[in-house]
Amino acid sequence: MTWAKEFVELDKAIHDRESFDCGKTELNDFIKTEAAKHMKAGISRTMLLPASTPLPNGKYPICAFYTIAPSSINREDLPQELAKKLPHYPVPVFLLAQLAVHHEYHKQGLGEITLVKSLKYFVEINFHLRAYAIIVDCIDKEAEQFYLKYDFQELCKHNDKQRMYIPMKTVQKLF
Ligand SMILES: CC(C)(COP(=O)(O)OP(=O)(O)OC[C@H]1O[C@@H](n2cnc3c(N)ncnc32)[C@H](O)[C@@H]1OP(=O)(O)O)[C@@H](O)C(=O)NCCC(=O)NCCS
Repeated sequence: MTWAKEFVELDKAIHDRESFDCGKTELNDFIKTEAAKHMKAGISRTMLLPASTPLPNGKYPICAFYTIAPSSINREDLPQELAKKLPHYPVPVFLLAQLAVHHEYHKQGLGEITLVKSLKYFVEINFHLRAYAIIVDCIDKEAEQFYLKYDFQELCKHNDKQRMYIPMKTVQKLF
């Protein structure tokens, strides 16, 4: 199966959430039961890349998705060199809340495509509303390795997960 050309917003009437399997239960459960609810509640947005052909039920399988939301960090979490240039109140950041690729498509470059797409999205938002960095809470060591490859740096522990960040200034230079 091949993937479509464009990332689109999750639409549960069109996209088959049930068949999504990235190999990690937490992320599978999120797309199946939480992502649409969170969009309805207005707290995050999930963008996905559907397959180019539908299933017999008429819905399109999900090849990859990412979820974004606004967030904030404390300046004390940043290295001192960066922290000293920032105010003492919470520092606005973008949260890359979720990112996953269906296991059928692993190791074919789709993780990179999905990450780059999400970074471009953040750059567009940043044009209108500034944030200091993008943060991500890694589900496990593998995820950490994936983000390290793209120059994310360790920030702090958050809910037992390794939180990583990349400054928006760095991301903007990429596009
Ligand atoms: C992590 C994930 C998104 C990678 O997707 P993918 O489509 O297999 O990744 P790509 O094929 O685009 O690989 C991009 C690069 O990342 C590297 N990479 C991929 N998976 C990796 C892993 N688990 N650990 C370390 N590096 C990894 C690849 O080697 C590749 O680098 P290379 O070009 O130098 O070889 C995918 O394995 C996934 O969905 N995992 C489950 C969900 C998850 O952990 N998401 C992270 C959220 S916190």
